[in-house]
Amino acid sequence: MRKYNFYAGPSTLPVEVLEELKETMVDYKGIGMSLIETSHRSKDYEEVHNEAVSLVSELLGLPDNYKVVFLGGGATLQFTMVPANLMIGSKTADYVLSGTWAVSAYKDACKLGNAVAVYDGKANNYTELPSSVKTSGDSSYLHITSNETIGGLQWQNWPDTGSIPLVADMSSDILSRTIPVEKFGLIYAGAQKNLGPAGATLVIIREDLLERSSDNLTAYLNYAIHADKNSLYNTPPVFSIYATMLVLRRMKALGGLGAVEKTNRQKAALVYEAIDQSGGFYKCPVQLENRSMMNIVFTMKDENLENEFIKKATAEGMVGLKGHRSVGGCRASVYNSMPIEGAKALADFMKDFAAGK
Ligand SMILES: Cc1ncc(COP(=O)(O)O)c(C=O)c1O
Repeated sequence: MRKYNFYAGPSTLPVEVLEELKETMVDYKGIGMSLIETSHRSKDYEEVHNEAVSLVSELLGLPDNYKVVFLGGGATLQFTMVPANLMIGSKTADYVLSGTWAVSAYKDACKLGNAVAVYDGKANNYTELPSSVKTSGDSSYLHITSNETIGGLQWQNWPDTGSIPLVADMSSDILSRTIPVEKFGLIYAGAQKNLGPAGATLVIIREDLLERSSDNLTAYLNYAIHADKNSLYNTPPVFSIYATMLVLRRMKALGGLGAVEKTNRQKAALVYEAIDQSGGFYKCPVQLENRSMMNIVFTMKDENLENEFIKKATAEGMVGLKGHRSVGGCRASVYNSMPIEGAKALADFMKDFAAGK
């Protein structure tokens, strides 16, 4: 029996996609080998690659002046590539410190230039997002983390940055809801939560920003090179891109981002309702309007019950509910590919568990 997988990433994938990967693994469409054995410059791979790029564009409704790039190195490499490409001379780069991942991005940027924390949620233990952000004026860009995977916070309203490009780490909520893409200068996301298996990182960049990539950058770090070569400057993470393409195809067949978002909202509502109607048995530490639709964090009135909760849930086929080791508690990650039945099963289990205490 397949488990309901609530891990924060790598995370659950649609079973239909896994089946298709299995079917094509040894012999891809009769070519006598798998896609991951063929050249990344072959026609067969090229088709998959281009379909992945165009599906991202189509699902997000990208305007023509945006490029879609697939890279390796995880979102972590973007903590370096964003400042390396987009920081202008001695100008600042502004960062909103909303939790663990934003702080990691900021720390790397500090090593490359004049990064400034324009908001730091440390005082509220990273349980709240700012209602507005004041940039430092003449900044190269403003960086936000649209969804904090560990803290369970998610931006609902995007900060107004005027002419300053807005850069977002969307690793844990990419393609989970409709977004006003034209508000963003650059978006990046590791594949392994909402898109596919680990390996590929999606970068979406407004074309005018490519002019900032200096010729002095080493080749792999240079966005302009990757964009110019359609992400085939070097060997891309072909398996991850192939699986991602299949996930995107399925999202399109389900009705696109609007439909995906609707289901995501329903799933999150089921679990939050179990928390909010538990009479304080479960508690979500995040400010109501900043709660994440993807990573639902909660603690229990009696901390000692957490291990029992996780053990029993695991026995019932619901895995990955332990909170991140840095914050403890519990966390249910309900990414795009988590079926609504999984969220229902968890909510029912939570209610039963609380009632039995
Ligand atoms: C929001 C966010 N940013 C960055 C990362 C780091 O991603 P990667 O492991 O792909 O480097 C993660 C990983 O979980 C994340 O959740």
